[in-house]
Amino acid sequence: MRRVRCGLPSGICSGQKGFTTGTGTHHSTAAGRGIAAEMNPTTITIDDRSIDTVDGRNLLQTCLENGIVVPNLCFVADMTDPPVSCRLCFVEVADVPQPVPACKVAVRAGMVVQTATDRVRRLQRSALRLLLSAHRADCRNCPANKQCPLQDMARFLGVRLRPRRLEQVQRDVPDPMEHPLFTFIPSRCVLCGRCVHACRTHGGGLLTYIRRGFDTLIGALPVDDAESLHCGGCLACEAACPVAAIFIKDTEPPEATMEAPGSLDPSR
Ligand code: SF4
Ligand code: SF4
Ligand code: FES
Repeated sequence: MRRVRCGLPSGICSGQKGFTTGTGTHHSTAAGRGIAAEMNPTTITIDDRSIDTVDGRNLLQTCLENGIVVPNLCFVADMTDPPVSCRLCFVEVADVPQPVPACKVAVRAGMVVQTATDRVRRLQRSALRLLLSAHRADCRNCPANKQCPLQDMARFLGVRLRPRRLEQVQRDVPDPMEHPLFTFIPSRCVLCGRCVHACRTHGGGLLTYIRRGFDTLIGALPVDDAESLHCGGCLACEAACPVAAIFIKDTEPPEATMEAPGSLDPSR
């Protein structure tokens, strides 16, 4: 397997795989060295505030635990392998030339962080506009209305829910898509991956990404053996979805195959 550097500057990588390539090697950090190192108390500075935390702790989680607002969508507390898919959580770290996603950074002693610089806000607005360009903002008819992180972040960053400048793009697939186990709404999904993570950690690990690039969708494995598909009905994916884009069906394990029109079979 070809191994490459993870892409984060030396000294701030959290030591977790997944950033940029998913196959990268990582810098040796407290997080990468294990739990014992994470328990060392340390102090860092965030937005000129002195924050007590522990060496190796996730920087985004540290900010949120201390009431410091950093926009985020794909991160789930205590995640060990953040997907860094929303690109919303940028912060600036002293001595690091470029803003970095806070969810992929491990705290280290003496770290100085700025969460609200002009550069950070520009990146966050661009990231949110990009997410919204593939999202049909039909709030009045959406179950997430008024509890929606997209609405909150749009307000916080001063971004319109229906951006003017970017063309609205929709995936060329049925909408909604019916799977034997669930209904998936591509025009709402922002591909944050929270449902996949929830299914892996709380459910049966069925949910996964299918297809690639702009055609990426959420589907289920195995794709060629519908008989063996079984969802325990924990509803963790539904609960994790921030934009009401996935709903588990109240059915027995399916008899239908994955070949039906509008199915989530990645080979189609
Ligand atoms: S997910 Fe949020 S922004 Fe999108 S339609 Fe629903 S309420 Fe509106
Ligand atoms: S279905 Fe919801 S939780 Fe899953 S990737 Fe799409 S937006 Fe995220
Ligand atoms: S929360 Fe960090 S990239 Fe999504």
